[in-house]
This record gives sequence, structure tokens and C-alpha cells, in this order.
Amino acid sequence: MLKKITNILIIGYSQTGQLQLILDSIERPLKNQQTIKITRKFIEPKQEYSFPWPFFDFLDVFPECVHLDAPKNKKLNLTDSYDLVILGYQPWFLSPSLPTTAFLKSKEAKEALKGVPIITVIGCRNMWVQSQLKVIQMLGDIGAKLIDNIVLTDSASSLATFITTPRWLLTGKKDSFLRLPKPGILDKDIKSSERFGRAILKTITRGGNCNNGPMLTGLKAAKVNVALLKSEIIGSRSFFIWGKLLRFIAPRGSWKRKPVLLIYIIFLITMIITVVPINLFIRSITNLFFKNKIKEMERQFELPSGSEDSRMQEFL
Ligand SMILES: Cc1cc2nc3c(=O)[nH]c(=O)nc-3n(C[C@H](O)[C@H](O)[C@H](O)COP(=O)(O)O)c2cc1C
Repeated sequence: MLKKITNILIIGYSQTGQLQLILDSIERPLKNQQTIKITRKFIEPKQEYSFPWPFFDFLDVFPECVHLDAPKNKKLNLTDSYDLVILGYQPWFLSPSLPTTAFLKSKEAKEALKGVPIITVIGCRNMWVQSQLKVIQMLGDIGAKLIDNIVLTDSASSLATFITTPRWLLTGKKDSFLRLPKPGILDKDIKSSERFGRAILKTITRGGNCNNGPMLTGLKAAKVNVALLKSEIIGSRSFFIWGKLLRFIAPRGSWKRKPVLLIYIIFLITMIITVVPINLFIRSITNLFFKNKIKEMERQFELPSGSEDSRMQEFL
């Protein structure tokens, strides 16, 4: 009897190529398998975002990111019917990047992803939870089912990446600066994400169905840090309110937004330098009394794949 072919779509957008490398890694074990057909697609905005980012262009995208109002992408021609979709994306301002939002809101995604199990793959600095909530919402709107979530983040401290990530994005320089570690996800972490491809392959070759829920538990797929989560919640609220004001003033690209963006960035940096460390300090003390509650909260946001490592040896 002929074995059923599993039709997998791997799709994503990447400015510097970092996310594509992660998707390549996950794809590697699945390639050249008789029972698997892979379609790889690259999301391309109709008007590309400049890289490195000019300072004001960088800030100017935040209102539209947060309010999920994205300019359209080029057509993708997703003609097949897929059994599994691996969707890679990166957060921009605690929301999905604009090309990702544009894709998830497109007619094409509605048609191709409806009823299909989805694995999201996030490659970012370290703040992704609020953005994933928005992606889950948009997947729900098109009737797609999230079965796994893989998250790769920068391994350097938040303080270091607070300097090195904007430097990378605004100048294109990815070298070590002020003796701080290089920005971006470590090569070894990207390479190690092949384990996810191996685990997916094992489910498929055993005749398993992608529809039956998570395939990637026990593989340290997604780790949540509650301290960052609290900062994300505060940040998201602030982005939402200021984003609404900026959208009211003028559309993206207008010079009228510049003075308000400048005031906001001064306000934001002052908050990050003053309020955030004080908040983190107070929380690190109060958190000592709520250890179980915090663990449970982290576990909830790490679903469906979790941060547990019990199957690492099997798939490394
Ligand atoms: C406009 C913009 C906003 C970003 N906001 C976030 C963020 O909120 N959280 C985060 O962890 N990373 C953030 N990043 C970093 C990206 O998620 C990502 O790591 C980086 O842009 C490289 O991705 P790529 O080259 O694969 O597109 C941001 C990047 C850009 C360009």
C-alpha cells in the first residue's frame, strides 16, 4: 500500500535572514523524505522595509504593528492543500511583524490555513509573549489550529541586548560592541533547532497525524520569563495608547508624527532606565512569596509545547 504523503508548508518573513536560518534548520531533517512534500514560501511585503532601519522609520512602524494594521504583501500562490504549516515570524514592538500580520489577515492565508495545524516559530530578542497572543487570535480568526510553538531568543542579558539589538537594527552592525556579546540568536541554538524537524519527522513516519496536538513537548521549545512578561504587559499598554494617538495624528510616513514620536521615545527610554529596574527589583522580592503561582503562569504561556527537556537526548 502507498504511504500517505504529508504536505508541509514552511513560510516566513525575515529581514536579516536570521529567521530563515532557523526555518532551514527545522526543515533539514524533513527534506528528501519519500512521504513528505515540502513547499517553502517567503513572505515579501509589496514595499520592503529598509534594513538597516532609518531611526524615524523604525519608530514609525510601532502604531501599525500594535494595532495590527499592515500594508499588503506580494501574492504567494498557495495553491496546495496543506497537512501542516510551519509559520516563522518575529515580533516587532511586542506584536507580530507587519509582513506577518499582513499574511495572517490575507485572503490567501484564510484559504490555505483554515482547519490546518500550525507550528509557530519565533526568532527574536527576548520579548514575544504578547505578540504570540495576537498571532493566536489571528489564527483563531481564520480557523487554524496552533499545535506547537518554538521560540529562539538572544542568549545575552536584557541589558546587553537593549544596546546591541537596536545598534544592529539601526546600523546593520552585528559585531561585538563595548565588549558586549554580539546581538542575535547563537549559531549553535539555530543549528540545535534541527531537533524539532527530527521530532516532526518521527511523528509523521510513525503514521502519526499532525492534528493530534503537540509534537514538540520535552524539547525545550518555549521558555517564558515572568519578569520580562510583566514588562511586556506594561509596554504593550503604553504602545497601544500612544499608537492610537499617533494614528489619529497622521498616517505612517507623515512628518506630523515625528515630534510626538520624539517625545514618546524620550518618555520610553526614561521609563526603561528608571521605572523598569525599580519594578524588576521590587518584583524579584515579592516573587519569592509567589513561586508556585509564577511557575504556573509561565507554564500557561509556554503552551502548547512547553519548556521541559525530557526528550532532548532522543532528538539532539
Ligand atoms: C521594528 C522592530 C521591532 C522589534 N521589536 C521586538 C520586540 O518587541 N521583541 C523582541 O524580542 N524583538 C524585537 N525585534 C527584533 C526582531 O524580533 C528580530 O529578532 C530581528 O528583527 C531579526 O529578525 P529577522 O532578521 O529574522 O527579521 C524587533 C525588530 C524590529 C525590526
